[in-house]
Amino acid sequence: MSKPADTMEKLVSLCKRRGFIFPSSEIYGGLKSCWDYGPLGVELKRNVKEAWWSRMVRRRRDVVGLDASILMHPKVWETSGHVSGFNDPLIDCKKCKARFRADTLDQQVCPEKPSKRPGECGGELTEPRQFNLMFKTNMGPVESSESVVYLRPETAQGIFVNFKNVVDTSRVRPPFGIAQQGKSFRNEIVTENFIFRSREFEQMEMEFFVPPAEAPEWYRYWRDARYKWFTDLGVTPAKLRLREHDKDELAHYSAACADVEYEFPFGWKELEGIANRTDFDLQRHAEATGRDLMFFDDQTKERYFPYVVEPALGVDRAVLTFLVDGYDEEKLEDGDVRTVLHLHPALAPIKCGIFPLVKKEGLPEIAEKLEDELKRHFSVFFDQSGAIGRRYRRQDEIGTPYGVTIDFDTKTDQTVTIRERDSMSQTRIGIDKVLDFLRDKLDF
Ligand code: GAP
Repeated sequence: MSKPADTMEKLVSLCKRRGFIFPSSEIYGGLKSCWDYGPLGVELKRNVKEAWWSRMVRRRRDVVGLDASILMHPKVWETSGHVSGFNDPLIDCKKCKARFRADTLDQQVCPEKPSKRPGECGGELTEPRQFNLMFKTNMGPVESSESVVYLRPETAQGIFVNFKNVVDTSRVRPPFGIAQQGKSFRNEIVTENFIFRSREFEQMEMEFFVPPAEAPEWYRYWRDARYKWFTDLGVTPAKLRLREHDKDELAHYSAACADVEYEFPFGWKELEGIANRTDFDLQRHAEATGRDLMFFDDQTKERYFPYVVEPALGVDRAVLTFLVDGYDEEKLEDGDVRTVLHLHPALAPIKCGIFPLVKKEGLPEIAEKLEDELKRHFSVFFDQSGAIGRRYRRQDEIGTPYGVTIDFDTKTDQTVTIRERDSMSQTRIGIDKVLDFLRDKLDF
């Protein structure tokens, strides 16, 4: 693997050129900090979400799913502490009017003079003031303080307010989890590094409710399981680490927290947080609503607020990790350079290229029949134009793990060539074996 120093620039350009990710509203000059997923990006993102849902929900007996609304009662956010405390410290430059986060000032640059630090344009910096990150809007036709609602800044609260609904309807008992995927919104002071930090993004969160005494053990379990999810999906272990938070870093309601961090070209950054959130949220919502949010254990006759262990991951950050980790420029023996995305087959937007060697003599018809069979199971791409080597390269660049070539021998012996993206090795198998071969490789 050889990653160029300018991997991020190359990746952003590849994402644009091949239809993974575009700047939002680009023809209007772009809406900074929001991104649109194109035809390949949407497949990749769906696959990332599917790999999470399958591991976190469908393959387990102790986790159920939920899809709560984005707009919630505004009191939810008062109770959770977001209205009073979901702030970042903001600093303005009086000269160039740029805004900076006071806590990461040393990592930011002056937009007037990008070679300089904030304030080095000659402007005076204001004292930091607290800036609330929640987006506000109004519900209904009248805009007044009574109609204010917020775009959720995390999906977690939708789970806490539905705790009782799920317990009463789903025959679950601690330890059990409720998982959710969906959009979140934060009016970040600084957005950065492509899709790493944006103002509209998606989260995948799971609140795992446990008897309080079991919380430390489950915390360790989920911290390690979440790290493993990334390595199972092919992320380079040397670039991935778990970082336990120091006591003074912990939120006031949190008993322990660890981040899964990845070494991006712009440094080690948080991908996912795993926290022991204690019983803070359920207690607060119970106090605020007067509802009984305790769990009654009919076997031990105990009533208690379960503790919560929460793994919380950003979908877009996960997508960026798989893209950065997979991006490679390989020098080949003939001196040529091959751009390749080493995506895990389960994540690859297209699973298989289908290539009739020539556009005649019945080869396209055989290839179309195979395409019809395979596309009932996963996404494939039919390509009959250009030299076969160029067709392989076009698929390497977007991470397609396999290519099937239909040639003249196919007509006589019903075999095809399967070419593997990473090793570029080629093997011959029966055309009737292709589906099973690919299914086996795509398993995660
Ligand atoms: N419920 C807990 C919670 O929301 P968080 O650490 O604030 O915790 C969880 O967010 C994850 O969501 C982060 O680890 C990150 O992957 C993702 N995330 C947070 N803010 C983001 C942003 N502005 N853009 C993209 N992803 C973000």
